[in-house]
Amino acid sequence: MKYTYYGHACFGIEVAGKHLLFDPFIRENELAKDIQIEDIQADYIFLSHGHFDHVADVVEIAKRTQATVVANFEIYTWLGKQGVDNAHPMNHGGSWRFDFGKVKMVNAIHSSELPDGSYGGNPAGFVFTTEEGNFYYAGDTALHMDMKLIPMTSGNLHFAILPIGDNFTMGIADAIIAADFVKCDRVIGVHYDTFGFIKIDQDKAKVLFAQHGKELILTDIGQTIEL
Ligand code: NI
Ligand code: MN
Repeated sequence: MKYTYYGHACFGIEVAGKHLLFDPFIRENELAKDIQIEDIQADYIFLSHGHFDHVADVVEIAKRTQATVVANFEIYTWLGKQGVDNAHPMNHGGSWRFDFGKVKMVNAIHSSELPDGSYGGNPAGFVFTTEEGNFYYAGDTALHMDMKLIPMTSGNLHFAILPIGDNFTMGIADAIIAADFVKCDRVIGVHYDTFGFIKIDQDKAKVLFAQHGKELILTDIGQTIEL
């Protein structure tokens, strides 16, 4: 699998020859100004919730790429009103088998309102089961006990993508516990440094993870890594 970071909580994963894009927020992210949004490939776009910093560029990218957008039912309905017809609605606890693997929508503790003020439904995370390995994207969330269900229901994770910026989501200390709950020692951090409220000390964060026998991967914006 290949992971490419586009800044904030936006990233791409290449698996089984498909391009999966998550929570697109690029044009309005000053830190991501060197990313060429027109060049981003997407066969699928996953939306964790309706907040602006997760959906800002979805309509543009979905219309250009004709990607299938996967989101909860309320966001699916909103996408239809924006002219994005190629979408797949899900809800919590449900799984669907796509051509690259299986996806389960799981709980997140956060809030969700779309940029135009419409109700965004409940925020979510996603667990992916693929032949190249399983992974979890938590979305914006607090630490919560339901994370313990993930290894019980979806098996071993190859890596977990967790928010670490604090204030709006988990911070470092809770993300380390979350990694324990999902039984995964390899964590990719997202949702940090974009705004004043979520600035972190990256070196200190990596040391704290290492002290708990875990790896925290923080990539540069635009960087691609093999996992
Ligand atoms: Ni949010
Ligand atoms: Mn957010």
